[in-house]
Amino acid sequence: MKILVTGGAGFIGANFLNHLVPKHPEHTFVNLDKLTYAANLASLEPVAKADNYRLAVIDLVDFDGVDRAFAEHEPELVIHFAAESHVDRSISGPRAFIKSNIEGTFNLLEACRKHWEPGQGLFHHVSTDEVYGSLGDEGMFVETTRYDPSSPYSASKAASDHLVRAYARTFGLRTRITNCSNNYGPLQFPEKLIPLMVLNALEGKPLPVYGEGLNVRDWLYVIDHCEAIWKVVHEGEDGQTYNIGGNNEVRNIDVVKEICAVVAEQTGKSRGELEGLITYVKDRPGHDLRYAIDATKLRTELHWEPTETFSTGLRKTIRWYLDHPTWVQQVRTGEYRKWIEKNYDNRG
Ligand code: NAD
Ligand code: TYD
Repeated sequence: MKILVTGGAGFIGANFLNHLVPKHPEHTFVNLDKLTYAANLASLEPVAKADNYRLAVIDLVDFDGVDRAFAEHEPELVIHFAAESHVDRSISGPRAFIKSNIEGTFNLLEACRKHWEPGQGLFHHVSTDEVYGSLGDEGMFVETTRYDPSSPYSASKAASDHLVRAYARTFGLRTRITNCSNNYGPLQFPEKLIPLMVLNALEGKPLPVYGEGLNVRDWLYVIDHCEAIWKVVHEGEDGQTYNIGGNNEVRNIDVVKEICAVVAEQTGKSRGELEGLITYVKDRPGHDLRYAIDATKLRTELHWEPTETFSTGLRKTIRWYLDHPTWVQQVRTGEYRKWIEKNYDNRG
């Protein structure tokens, strides 16, 4: 099968391709990516030369480019990862989120409509639990929870989910949507909580925790997410939504303390000194208090189970960052440095 994977040079997309391209020589995987600041071709080194892998550098906002990619590669399955993905960036500059996440998804759907007859092809949309908004101390998100996004990022993902459902109902496009909780693992860009804290801890820099650190996220190891998507693509039902989560609810402050403990364990640094780097900074505006996913549908209908606990996944992740200093060095230069200096330095 010819599979078009958008955003394959980003964190989850690259893990997905590195995990699945070697396992499936019978499929061809075309990675359509604009190569934004968040992309890194070095992340795709394990598959770059594989016979069943191709790269198409295209911006989803450019419909003609997307159209040409469809004409050239004739995909039968689209797995749509590409998006602007960082909440803090969506607060400091929301426009790129509207463009890539809403207009980009729209262009991709239009290309499917143009190149596929109704009933042909399959569009898998990779979305987030953030579309459901914030939970209080109780309850969990299920597939029917009302949409109530808080940030420009989550609002743009909600809009893209709506477009996907509309194309299914109106044009008969075969679609599936997955809404997943927070991912972590190798290759994650160090603006997100876990890699940011790991690298700052290694460099003896402050560990900036928003508010009082009491916000809760439900962490899932990235390969467990990729396996869930692959299962839904092959065994799921058209028109259905599946929530993906790992039952790993942790308060941010406990995530950061656990990172200090594991970094200390793996480097011989003092855990107490690392914890001393924790700095409470001004809270994020519109900061959702708690996310928690009920993944019963995926577990019971498709028999998916995550393989990593937060403890095993975090150890693997930190080991990966320690073992890949060149990758880290590359992403921490240039545009990343400038953005971090402008937005994340001197927070108080
Ligand atoms: P990322 O920011 O690491 O990577 C995004 C990729 O998309 C990059 O390679 C970038 O170049 C590409 N891209 C962005 N705009 C594009 C455009 N206009 N045209 C073509 N390519 C473009 O993101 P990620 O963390 O890997 O997330 C991937 C997807 O998974 C996103 O849709 C995100 O909403 C969703 N998701 C992420 C998480 C998470 O915790 N990271 C959780 C649930 C869902
Ligand atoms: P993040 O990794 O940005 O993911 P999301 O906002 O999509 O959940 O943040 C995870 C949690 O960590 C979130 O509650 C915000 C918090 N956070 C901090 O406390 N400090 C930081 O420097 C960052 C980036 C996030």
